[in-house]
Amino acid sequence: MELLTRAIKGTQDLLPSQSHENQYIESSLLEIAGNFGFREIRTPVFEHTELFTRCVGDTTDVVQKEMYTFEDKGGRSITLRPEGTAGAVRAFLEHGLFNEPLPQKLCYLTSCYRYEKPQAGRLREFHQFGVECLGTASPAADAEIISLGDHIFDFLGVENLSLEINSIGCLDCRKDYHRALKEYFKAKKGELCPTCIERLERNPMRILDCKSPVCSKIAADAPVVLDYICEPCKEHFEQVEGYLDAMNITYKVNPRIVRGLDYYTRTVFEFVSNEIGAQGTVLGGGRYDGLVAELGGQSTTSLGFAMGLERLLLLMHAQGIPFPSQKGCDVYIIPVGENAYKKAAAMAFELRSSGLSAQLDVAGRSVKAQMKFADKIGAAYTVVLGEDELNGGTLKLKYMKTGEITQTPLESFAEDFMEISIRRSTVELEEMLNGSEIDDKKF
Ligand code: HAM
Repeated sequence: MELLTRAIKGTQDLLPSQSHENQYIESSLLEIAGNFGFREIRTPVFEHTELFTRCVGDTTDVVQKEMYTFEDKGGRSITLRPEGTAGAVRAFLEHGLFNEPLPQKLCYLTSCYRYEKPQAGRLREFHQFGVECLGTASPAADAEIISLGDHIFDFLGVENLSLEINSIGCLDCRKDYHRALKEYFKAKKGELCPTCIERLERNPMRILDCKSPVCSKIAADAPVVLDYICEPCKEHFEQVEGYLDAMNITYKVNPRIVRGLDYYTRTVFEFVSNEIGAQGTVLGGGRYDGLVAELGGQSTTSLGFAMGLERLLLLMHAQGIPFPSQKGCDVYIIPVGENAYKKAAAMAFELRSSGLSAQLDVAGRSVKAQMKFADKIGAAYTVVLGEDELNGGTLKLKYMKTGEITQTPLESFAEDFMEISIRRSTVELEEMLNGSEIDDKKF
């Protein structure tokens, strides 16, 4: 039975009591990114496995250990996306977005899938907000992308994140670095995990982000890439730093950041928190100047980042950041009898068409039970509609917080209700600002 009533390990439901938080975050992210010129792209949840093997790299943990890969009924190898960059770049090529003005600025909200060991902030299904800026080599773009991350946290009120940046150089200068790494790790080969022994020849940089405690301990003293980068890469990095300084963005150079995906070149960066446990990287990204060409396109220098929405939420909760409250019920209409129900349904329709939240009983409950229900769902107002009201043409609108009753004509109820509720909210707001009690006589 557990299989029927328990979500799969590493996945989680988003309940109605929580969804407004995600909606707030997601709409804010799209709006902020929109102000920076990023437009939303949506790509499929699954792609050809080859896309991720080529983009992310076949010696990464993601490809070697974490992908949800299966054969479909047509015999194709399919993978649930472990991240959003590969799909965005594939779509950029497939739809000829490179023919449109560059840089192309794309953003996305996606679910991602990685078979990792679940823990706080680490899930098997998680969600990312990502941005990709394709077609610019300028260090100003690196700084702009980083400033977008900074701006997002600032807007949401998130504090105490440390921005760490590094340069991992280009493919040319990395050759020397790989040589140095091989030399260092060869001396400790016997202690490395089997996956890293294999990585030693093919891609020694990947040993640097192996999750095995023994490998990470050895990696902690390995040579750092920043000491090996070529002059143009060094200059690029210095320019990025210069732009960040000019924008007053605080950062620290962490020469140990290498990122866990193979496509990165030059600038890499992370926003890290120490308030949400071991999985503290809330946002990570960098340049991937070789990726478009790797997929068969013209060389298109690009960069981007993604942030984990679950980690962002954890952090916002840890810091007690308030969210806008969930839209409640403006008015609950309580019909008594069939005739009244039909009129109530028409009134609800009219109120909803004006953008108000109006509910009425669809469970055939008594007036008392409906009143109780209205109270439970936090309806701001209730109005009873029975034979007397239908015949007399006047309704009694009850403000639930104080019990105050306002009489309104039945025929113009929707219009009058809007006016009454706006007037009350305005007065309440004013009185709250003045710190005084609410005077019901004003209604
Ligand atoms: P990433 O560092 O693998 O980069 O993931 C980005 C963010 O996704 C992480 O910083 C973290 O917040 C979140 N995340 C990753 N794995 C998990 C997980 N198992 N559970 C919960 N959250 C997780 C990328 O995915 C790149 N595509 C980012 C990028 C875009 N680089 C350039 N453009």
